[in-house]
Amino acid sequence: MKAVAIIVQGKPQQIKANISYLQPNNQLAGKKVIITGGGRGLGFAMAKKFVSEGADVLIAGRNEKTLKASSDEIGCKYLTINVSDPTEFSTFIAKAATLMGGGINVLVNNAGISLHEANFFDVTPDTFDRQINTNLRGAFFLTQEFIRHLKSTNTSGNILFVSSETGDTMDYRPYGFTKVAVNSMVQGLAYLFKKDGIRVNAVAPGVTASDMTGFKADGDLFAGEYGTGRIYLPEEVAETACFLVSDASGCVSGQIITCNNAQTVNARWK
Ligand SMILES: NC(=O)c1ccc[n+]([C@@H]2O[C@H](COP(=O)([O-])OP(=O)(O)OC[C@H]3O[C@@H](n4cnc5c(N)ncnc54)[C@H](OP(=O)(O)O)[C@@H]3O)[C@@H](O)[C@H]2O)c1
Repeated sequence: MKAVAIIVQGKPQQIKANISYLQPNNQLAGKKVIITGGGRGLGFAMAKKFVSEGADVLIAGRNEKTLKASSDEIGCKYLTINVSDPTEFSTFIAKAATLMGGGINVLVNNAGISLHEANFFDVTPDTFDRQINTNLRGAFFLTQEFIRHLKSTNTSGNILFVSSETGDTMDYRPYGFTKVAVNSMVQGLAYLFKKDGIRVNAVAPGVTASDMTGFKADGDLFAGEYGTGRIYLPEEVAETACFLVSDASGCVSGQIITCNNAQTVNARWK
């Protein structure tokens, strides 16, 4: 085990995050993984971890410059995709299969947006549609195309969704609705395809340092009113994701693993 300590002298208290990594052990040898939104944030942390564990990884997103820089940094492949546009998906999977020499067996549906509407009355048809189209509709139809590909190549596979702790709770904004629906989809697809050797799970992070939240991994990780006391780091989520993508979790499917230290557990007592 390797422990890295990040100590932040933030106000009003010092926040320290210890990330413990499992020693790299080729846990993902033989895995060919597509990660949407892999150019930055949580997707990038997963891509880096998976490459270090021996996976062949392809990251995908809209911004080619970011994808190229990230793929150069960690040694993986990249392709552009707009997950809001399902008409691209069949071509995307075909191109990915060519780039990776066939045998793609893992899809990580990580690309997502949160438009942080300040309140219920700030939600518009446009913000509603954009979040649904990216986080839910895009993930649904890309998964549909990926499962078609698995079946046509007679390959067993593994699909990981990046949900959110908001999927565990009530919400009045579309972002939360997308993650509740993602959790339903994870369980439904896991059940539907269990006899095909296709596993489907999700990680559901709490508030994590990334462009989406504006928190910096090397900044103040104090989380104010937030119950767990600190902001999480993308590398912490990537460790859990790695387990779910690996064969070590071979008996796990239809599960949503929440990475927030019990913040959203429905406790009887407070
Ligand atoms: N950070 C958190 O606190 C947190 C908590 C719970 C869950 N999550 C989930 O974690 C996932 C990653 O979030 P993050 O925090 O890493 O956010 P981020 O830093 O803003 O990264 C979002 C990623 O999604 C990609 N993306 C967005 N729209 C896309 C589209 N239409 N087509 C293709 N790619 C698109 C972006 O790439 P391009 O810009 O290049 O397209 C980027 O790589 C999301 O699903 C989010 O809901 C995050």
